[in-house]
Amino acid sequence: MSHVSKSDARVTIPELQRRAASGEKLVMTTAYDSITAQIADAAGVDLILVGDSVGNVCLGFDNTLQVTMAMMNHHLEAVARTRPRACLVADMPYLSCDLGLVEAVRNAGGFIQRGAQGVKLEGGAARVPVVRAMVAAEIPVMAHLGLTPQALHRMGGFKVQGRTGKAAKALVEDALRLQDAGCFAILMEGIPAELAGRVTREVEVPTIGIGAGPECSGQVLVFHDIVGLGPDLPPKFVRRYLDGFSQFRTALEEWREDVRAGRFPSPQESYLLPREAREQLEAMAPPPN
Ligand code: KIV
Repeated sequence: MSHVSKSDARVTIPELQRRAASGEKLVMTTAYDSITAQIADAAGVDLILVGDSVGNVCLGFDNTLQVTMAMMNHHLEAVARTRPRACLVADMPYLSCDLGLVEAVRNAGGFIQRGAQGVKLEGGAARVPVVRAMVAAEIPVMAHLGLTPQALHRMGGFKVQGRTGKAAKALVEDALRLQDAGCFAILMEGIPAELAGRVTREVEVPTIGIGAGPECSGQVLVFHDIVGLGPDLPPKFVRRYLDGFSQFRTALEEWREDVRAGRFPSPQESYLLPREAREQLEAMAPPPN
């Protein structure tokens, strides 16, 4: 059987690298379930990230630190079942890469076996050995630098990173070392725009920014933030295109009122008996008390 399928229009990592190199901006969003994946894919995004942000966005945790491999696999499988055209990337959750290289490669390889085309991994140059081990196992890796939410306690909160000359220099060096280790792209979160621009010019792989200014090769936002299902006061880097929370609530309030007033369901929304069966039902003796 040929490995080349004519109908396989899936966005690939080499294609993304070529498009970014030719100046095209890449677009990435998150999805944690089949419906958000289908919406994102229908909207034509280039990459879908099954992010560990599922922990705070969907599972009610305060942060991502309680997200496990089992949770990530569950959500990745739901997204992968939709067979998106977009390139599918899965996030390595907290501790999934810290208990030895074998465990890290097994975890990342499990994502690939579930349909991801690459994995995303938070952290700087200290991640070089694990990135090398994954790349050697044919697992494409996207690095994640800057505000890395799994380092919440070291950072002392969700704070913009790379604001001093020393920190900015270290971040550029991290990016170069991760590129050298074989990362196919570098995501930068919560860093000054000028620093993200500098990294983008220094590296050859695409950069994807979130709260990292306009000079990155692409941008990512969390799906729920774009459609207004996120927090009341989103951070300044989020642009909301819909007030989804209000609109969903209004729809549910209207339905609630229709139910209470007896307007729902209408005959058109009900299954009705054929005339003969209805007459037989009406002729039936009432049940004994
Ligand atoms: O988990 C996630 O959704 C992320 C994005 C914020 C980039 O890492």
